[in-house]
Amino acid sequence: MAQAALQPQSKHERGQMAAGRGRGGRDAARRAMLLAVLPLAGCDGVQSALDPGGFEAAAVARLFWVMLGGAVAIWLGVMALALFAQRRRGEPWPERRAGRLVLWGGAVVPTLILAALLAYGLVLMPALREPGGPLRIAVEGEQFWWRVRYQAPGQAPVEAANEIRLPRGQRVELSLSARDVIHSFWIPALAGKMDMIPGRATRLVLEPTELGRFRGACAEFCGASHALMAFTVEVMEPEAFAAWLRAQAAPAPAPAEPPLAEGQRLFLAEGCGACHAVRGTAARGQLGPDLTHLGSRPSLGAGLLDNTREHRMRFIRETDRLKPAARMPAYAGLAEPELAAIADWLGSLR
Ligand code: CUA
Repeated sequence: MAQAALQPQSKHERGQMAAGRGRGGRDAARRAMLLAVLPLAGCDGVQSALDPGGFEAAAVARLFWVMLGGAVAIWLGVMALALFAQRRRGEPWPERRAGRLVLWGGAVVPTLILAALLAYGLVLMPALREPGGPLRIAVEGEQFWWRVRYQAPGQAPVEAANEIRLPRGQRVELSLSARDVIHSFWIPALAGKMDMIPGRATRLVLEPTELGRFRGACAEFCGASHALMAFTVEVMEPEAFAAWLRAQAAPAPAPAEPPLAEGQRLFLAEGCGACHAVRGTAARGQLGPDLTHLGSRPSLGAGLLDNTREHRMRFIRETDRLKPAARMPAYAGLAEPELAAIADWLGSLR
């Protein structure tokens, strides 16, 4: 269809196309330039490996630029030789001289550059293997969300989901695993990526150096909602982090007013507690995300929607449409006031 539309249909149209070629060429050049520049727009921001906010990511970014430099040097050399060969007139070179060029340009120089790049990469590695401090975080990949367990020294483990908070300037060891299929854990702005493999724990140590919110994502195809499996990472000052973790360890606050109590009652009556835990209530399910402090999380459904009242209602009502193949059934039968009451209560769990 599209191709047929591009074919000139008559002599008249063909003439028009020829006349438009000069302008079309400029347009095409402009478009190509725009396309070439567009990817650069992705180089900064909350999910960019080239805008590092951590020690490991900074090392990876440095390695990238150094390797890019090496690649550009080789490319320029090859292009220069190609141009030289194309422009050159006169007698062919003697065999020995041509052989020397092939030996140096084709073997010695590339080998030296690649060896230097390899050596640089190896030099970077020991610092990335330094062990983490006393805080441990276990992250488990699920279809399609992230179970997060904090283990701080002298404190009971704290379970949360789809959000990871980290203290700035501390090396933290993340123990990664998966319940169902292989996922891959990646916070581009903080560290390299690491696979999460069922039945096996992999390890990633990272040290955030900048405060702020970053974004992580699953980097291994894991099912229908793979692309909807993200999480936020909040880097805080160590004291603020410690206070936050203590607050997370506390059970959910009791409903402060009757409408919130009604929301909690409906949540339990609908059986949500079979899959979700809300510490401090009868909800003790372990299949889905712990919702004890859901109201304090920035997003819903693993980075899918901002955590607003409207979105909480929508997520409960249309889970299957928002997140294909998720294990949670959609509660399409709930009336609007019931949905609102549950959403309000969940929002109050701060
Ligand atoms: Cu989990 Cu892709």
